[in-house]
Parts: sequence; structure tokens; C-alpha cells
Amino acid sequence: MLSSNSLFFILLLGFFCVCYGFDPVDEYLIDCGSSKDTNFGNRVFVSDKSGSGSKFLSVSQDILADNTKSSDSPIYQTARVFTQTSSYKFPITKLGRHWIRLHFSPFVYQSYDMSLATFSVSTQQNVLLGNFSPKKDVSVKEFSVNVTTGDLVITFSPLSDSFAYVNALEVVSVPDSLITDDASTFGPSGVFSGMYAQALETVARVNMGGPAVSSENDTLWRSWVPDKDYLTQPDFAKSLSKIGSVKYLAGGATSDIAPPSVYGTCTKMNVDGAGNDASANFNVTWVFNVDVGFQYFIRLHLCDIVSTAANQLLFNMYVDSSNIASDFDLSSKVQSRLATAYYVDFVTPQANTNNISISIGPSPKSGFPDAFLNGVELLKLNNSRGSLADVSSIPPPSSSGSKKNIGVIVGAVVGVTLVLLVIGFLFCMRRRRKQEQLGLSKTWIPLSIGGGGLSHTMGSKYSNGTTLSAASNLSYRIPFAAMLAATKKFDESLVIGIGGFGKVFKGVLNDGTNVAIKRGNPSSQQGLREFQTEIEMLSQFRHRHLVSLIGYCDEKNEMILVYEYMENGTLKSHLYGSDMPSMSWKQRLEICIGAARGLHYLHTSYAKAVIHRDVKSANILLDENMMAKVADFGLSKAGPELDQTHVSTAVKGSFGYLDPEYFRRQQLTEKSDVYSFGVVLFEVLCARPVIDPSLPREMVNLAEWAMKWQKKGQLEQIIDPNLAGKIRPDSLRKFGETAEKCLADFGVDRPSMGDVLWNLEYALQLQEAVIQVDPDENSSNLIGELSPQVNDFSHVNATTSAMQFEASNLDDLSGVSMSKVFSQLVKSEGR
Ligand SMILES: *[C@@H]1O[C@H](CO)[C@@H](O)[C@H](O)[C@H]1NC(C)=O
Ligand SMILES: *[C@@H]1O[C@H](CO)[C@@H](O)[C@H](O)[C@H]1NC(C)=O
Ligand SMILES: *[C@@H]1O[C@H](CO)[C@@H](O)[C@H](O)[C@H]1NC(C)=O
Ligand SMILES: *[C@@H]1O[C@H](CO)[C@@H](O)[C@H](O)[C@H]1NC(C)=O
Ligand SMILES: *[C@@H]1O[C@H](CO)[C@@H](O)[C@H](O)[C@H]1NC(C)=O
Repeated sequence: MLSSNSLFFILLLGFFCVCYGFDPVDEYLIDCGSSKDTNFGNRVFVSDKSGSGSKFLSVSQDILADNTKSSDSPIYQTARVFTQTSSYKFPITKLGRHWIRLHFSPFVYQSYDMSLATFSVSTQQNVLLGNFSPKKDVSVKEFSVNVTTGDLVITFSPLSDSFAYVNALEVVSVPDSLITDDASTFGPSGVFSGMYAQALETVARVNMGGPAVSSENDTLWRSWVPDKDYLTQPDFAKSLSKIGSVKYLAGGATSDIAPPSVYGTCTKMNVDGAGNDASANFNVTWVFNVDVGFQYFIRLHLCDIVSTAANQLLFNMYVDSSNIASDFDLSSKVQSRLATAYYVDFVTPQANTNNISISIGPSPKSGFPDAFLNGVELLKLNNSRGSLADVSSIPPPSSSGSKKNIGVIVGAVVGVTLVLLVIGFLFCMRRRRKQEQLGLSKTWIPLSIGGGGLSHTMGSKYSNGTTLSAASNLSYRIPFAAMLAATKKFDESLVIGIGGFGKVFKGVLNDGTNVAIKRGNPSSQQGLREFQTEIEMLSQFRHRHLVSLIGYCDEKNEMILVYEYMENGTLKSHLYGSDMPSMSWKQRLEICIGAARGLHYLHTSYAKAVIHRDVKSANILLDENMMAKVADFGLSKAGPELDQTHVSTAVKGSFGYLDPEYFRRQQLTEKSDVYSFGVVLFEVLCARPVIDPSLPREMVNLAEWAMKWQKKGQLEQIIDPNLAGKIRPDSLRKFGETAEKCLADFGVDRPSMGDVLWNLEYALQLQEAVIQVDPDENSSNLIGELSPQVNDFSHVNATTSAMQFEASNLDDLSGVSMSKVFSQLVKSEGR
């Protein structure tokens, strides 16, 4: 009598939970690109065009895509297309965790083939998706972030020449109790604290032994998938279902943790159970695909619907080869009751392979051999930069075309002089010969932090100090022996550049990949910090227009960085000082556009802007297709925090490119890079060194000289003679205006890299005459958002002449590190 009453009560409770469940305070459901509200899975997604959703969106262009002929669910028949960085901003009433769900279903709309879109998505704090290209029929990306400010801004940033899109999005409150601050672990390993600060991405949410559970049947609108695709050996497993018997105990799991349809089914060892198969001894294993270099949160859902009596079944659970729970006795966790919902949370160390496996197997202490699991959730934790973006799979450097053994890479050298560069270059040219196979073995050892072993063990690592924490985000550590082999023991004849950091060697890995190997000089001024910065930056930032880091070596106090080899050397070497053929205007524009894209990506793609700090033509490298890539991140700094407007720092950078405002105030913003880039633009146009002391006084400083002519409207007087008559006047005017704005005396008056990029693209179109310009139209109207204010250069004359004086006995100083020339003038922080 009593028991049937309580069963009734439990069923009623379950019914209650499913019907009403959690009532989210914040709930924004947006049907992107739709002009009407749409019902989807019993919920209404509002239009962001005319509906109440429109107030959340800020876009510069309004591209609504639709595909109403398709038979897809209505929310997937429309999308927003973003050709520029665009955001949704949602006011948050209740701070704390929120789901962000992004729905993608590509289709072709006009010229936008969404399966080709590549973009990043970020919030103010976290990068959610990087270089993402959703191609599947429908993909739903789910994130859970703790919102700590009154707004949540979700920004879509198209990459390169691509665009972004989204079909629908959800921002919904999550109950505070769903993910607590600590993820407990079994055994001696301890506890991972600080879950509250983590942004999480759902990798897998699996209902063991049961069917898919759709979002409508989950109180928090989660979707669960069956486990059969994850099982390594389905024969070893069998499923069981007793959904009606699931109980939730006060203080334990609730139906918000997982619904009865998850707890009520399980996958167990394929044994008869109850001792009929006493010698069974095997594991049931599920394998999940993960990204190297990230930590993962694992939630195991357990509910004993297998046993007939409590405290009889004990079993083992493993994550990879680590035993996370020996002789686990679920009964002891749930007051010796059967069929009672329970869960445990783990955080793994950084993954060092693409697989995480979860296994269950019998314990010798058990009354009978069996083991079961009801559900698994696997969530990715953000990395130390707050990013969830997959930067793990380091693509092999493009080896196509690298068989030609010509050219030179300057693997991004700080403080290298042009003279040395040219010597290095000529040296390499002389060494042109057939590629040798060095027969070394390229052993990729994934980076592990904490100096601990590489094994994937639970625990202890969390509390360890890290030896190379800046570099903890997945680059590849390469054994020193492989470095010796690749460079013939650092044979001097392979040196292709020398800089403040040390020497750059050309190397060949055993698979024939050409690489540039930069070996830090232990006594160099630029020490460990720049080494770490470079690894960290380049591991985090992967972009077509940023030079890729292939790996590094920090064995035996070495500081060695291995980069992709850039066949065509520096932009600078193609402009002057060598006998290379002159580049066409179109080629130059394309290079500028590529470099601008790389910088734009650095400035915008992560929650915090990254400032390069040493933008110059010697740091723009060209691959075999003359595609530009920005190099040398040794000086890079994360940009200002949200509440600050600048980073205060000792002046570093290169002579001739230095932002006068930065020099005066020692305050760094991304606009300092914009200034330096403006100098590069003039350098590209005029093909001369940025500082040339051999010239008459007023011509020494290129920026000053070019601005004088630009202001007179006679820039064509000083352009590279090779370009004379080959640049269309509109294109030149647009280019000159863009460079001029970059050189505005005050950072606030300079355009963003995004604007610069846009204007350079426009200059290219004008050159190609894609656009017919109305002769009456003042082209400066087209960049109306750019401030027209460009201040007179006289402010900086005093400074620049001091520089010229100091520097007058060198031919070209643009490569010389500021801190060297001005060690007397600028009090530089010791490094
Ligand atoms: C969110 O973060 C704040 C601190 O910024 C913390 O106090 C709060 O407990 C967190 N909420 C959750 C649900 O983790
Ligand atoms: C939800 O669950 C009920 C009962 O388990 C089932 O009949 C129904 O089809 C489910 N709904 C969806 C959308 O899966
Ligand atoms: C189950 O897997 C763990 C971890 O890989 C392993 O140590 C153990 O020997 C396996 N047990 C059986 C019975 O195969
Ligand atoms: C990951 O697991 C799959 C399937 O079991 C296997 O084919 C693959 O080799 C594994 N990869 C790694 C890196 O362990
Ligand atoms: C995730 O980002 C937060 C800051 O947003 C940071 O405190 C935390 O350490 C990061 N997590 C990991 C695993 O690095």
C-alpha cells in the first residue's frame, strides 16, 4: 500500500518535472533571418528581422537568406548571413550559467554557399568557435557560459574572404545547481575547483542503452543521442531499460540533471548477470573524439537498474587507462537503494590524443561480474586564453611546392638587419641544390604541462606549477635530437637569418618538409618570455595569413621554434635592396590585403585583442604563391582589458614604424599596429626603406615624406618608378587616403584594421575596374566612418630627428629593435 503510494508520488513528480521542469529567467530564442516567428519543438523562436528579436542584433548589412522550398524544419529554412563582424546582444537578468545554442544548416542563397562559410563566434569572454565551417545538414553547437555582466554579446566574425551565417540561436538560463564549482574525482587525485569560470562546449551527450532523447523531452532542452556509435565492441555490451523505476533522491540527481529516460536505460556488460557468468572479464568501452590540448569535463550518470539487491555489484570505471573508480559501489552513494539516479563529475588533464575512452569493467570484489553506465556527458573546457576554439590539429605545413629548394625564409627575426637578411638570402641561393633527406624521425610529442609524465593520469597535475604555462596550449614539442638532425647539428651554412633572438636555420624534417628553425641564443636579451609569447600566440592563432608554428623544443634549456618555411621570404626583400623582379600593383595590393587580414584577425578574433607590436615589411612573409603571412609574435601583447583603454608598457617595436603616440605615452592599443601598417603601405607604394639616412633631410623618414605628398594630393610623384603609369588614379587615391588615415597622430583617429582591410579591398576593385566610380563622387565619402582627422606631423619632428641622429651611421634601421637604439632614451623594463 505504502510502496504503491510512493511509486505514484514519484511518477507524479516525474510527470511534474517533465511538464514544468526548470523555468529559465532568461530565454531568448531567435529565428535568424526570418521575417516571422517560428514554432520549433514546442517553443517559439522569434524573428530577428521584424519580430521582437530584431532589437538584439547589430549588423552592418542586412542579408536575410531563405530557402523556403526545402523540406527542412522551418527554423532551418532561413539564416542570417554576415559579411562583416556582427553581434547579437542580450540583456541578462539573472547572472550565472546560460546555454548558448547555435543552429547551423547550410544552403545556397544567391552568391552565398553556406557550406563554404568560415568564421569565428565569440562572447565578450570566450571564443566559442574558431575557423568554424559548418557543413553537416544540421549542426547544433551547444555552449554553457557563466555570464557575469548584464549583457551577453555573441559576435560572428567572418574569416578571410569568407562570411558567417547562423540559422537560429538560443540563450537560456541554466539552473545554478547543474554544474557546481568542484568536479569531484575518485581516488587520491583530488578535486578540480573553478568550474564556475569555465566556458563549456558540449562534445557528446549520450543516453547509454536507450534511444535518442530529443530536446522536447528534456527539462533543459538538451538532446541525448544513443551510444552505439561510440561503443568500440558492441558485442561486449547489452542494453537494459526500466524507465518507470527511476527514483530521484533528495540531495542527489534531479530530473534536471538528466531525465528518467536517460537514467532508466543503461548499457551493461554482455553477461547474464546474477552470477551466471562468473568468469566474465572484459571491459565495455566507448570512445569519443576530442581536440588535443583541451581539458574535458566528464559527467557519468549512474542508476542501478541491473542488480536485484543492493551492495552486491561493484565495478571499475576508467577514463583512458586511468582507473577513476575501483570497486565502485553505487549502493553506498544512494542509501543502498536500487534504481536511484546518481552522477559523478571528472575533469581530465589536457587531452594528448584525439580520443578519450571511457570504460567499465568487472571488479573482483563484486558479488558477480557486471558493470553498467546510464549516461555520459562530455564537455570541453576553455583553454587558458578563455578559448574553446579548436586549434589542436596542427595542419601539416603545405608541403606542395616546397620541393623547390629556392628562396629564403626569414623565420621572423626580431632585430635582424637588412644587411644580414640579404647575406642570408644570397647564401641560401648559392646553396640551391637538391633536397636532402636527412632521415630523422619526426616524433611529435604532445605538450604536457607540469613537467609530469605524458600519461593521461587523473589528478595531481591540477595543483602542479607549470614549467611552461604560457605554452600550455598545444603546440608540438619536438625532441632536440630531431632538431639536430634537421639542421645537421645547426650547421652554420644553413643559417638564413640572424636576429636579436638568435639564428634562423633552414631545416628539413624527415618527411621532406622544409622548415625555418629559430634557435634562441641563451644569452639573448629576448629571453624566455618572448619565446613563450611566441609559442602561445602562434598556437592559439591559426589563420591563413599568420605564419604557422609547427613545433618547438625546450629540452636542455634550448629555446627553439619551428615554423613553416616561407618560400618567398620577406615582403621587404621584394620591395628593395635585392634584385628580385618588381611586383605589380595588384600583387602588392593583394599582399597588403593578406597582411591586413592577419592583423585584423589578431585584433578581433579573440575575446581580448592581441597587439602585434612589431608590424613591418620584414615581418610580412610570402609563401610560394606570394600569399602574405604575418610573422614574429615575440613582442605581442594581449590588448587592453575591457575596462581599460590601453596597455601600459615600455616602448618596443621597430624604428621607422613606431606609433608616435605610443612613443610619447607608452600606452599600447591596436591602433599602434594600424600606424605601423600605414608605414608599410607607403613602403609598398614607394619601394624604399622607411628610414634612409643617406637621403636629403626631408626625405629620410618615409612616413613624413609620403604624408607631405599625400596631403598635397601628389602622391604619384614619389611612387616606385616601376609602378609609374600602372596604377589607376582612383585606386591610388583610395590607397593613399587609407595609409594617411592609418598615420593619424592620435590612435582614436585611425581606422580599425577591419576598415583598413575594407578600403584596401576597395582599392583593389578600383584597380581592377570592377567598380565604376562616379567622377563627382569624392571617394572619401566611401570611408565615411573613418575620421578625416589626420594631424600634422610636426608634433613628432623633434622625436624623429633625434632618432635620425642616433641612427645616422646605419644604412637601414627599420629592422633594428627599438630597445637597442633607444636604450638610453627609453627606460625599458629589464628583460
Ligand atoms: C558565476 O561566476 C561567479 C563569479 O564570477 C560565481 O560567483 C558564480 O557562482 C558563478 N555561477 C555559476 C553557476 O557557476
Ligand atoms: C518524448 O517522450 C515520449 C515518451 O517517452 C515519446 O512518446 C515522444 O515521442 C518523445 N518525443 C520526442 C519528440 O522524442
Ligand atoms: C579494462 O581497461 C583498463 C584500462 O584500459 C585496463 O587496465 C584493464 O586491464 C581492462 N580490463 C580488462 C578486463 O580488460
Ligand atoms: C581513436 O579511436 C578510433 C576508433 O577506436 C581509432 O580508429 C583511432 O585510431 C583512435 N585514434 C587515436 C589517436 O587513438
Ligand atoms: C578558462 O577561462 C578562465 C577565464 O575565463 C580561466 O580562469 C580558466 O583557467 C580557463 N580554463 C582552463 C582549463 O584553462
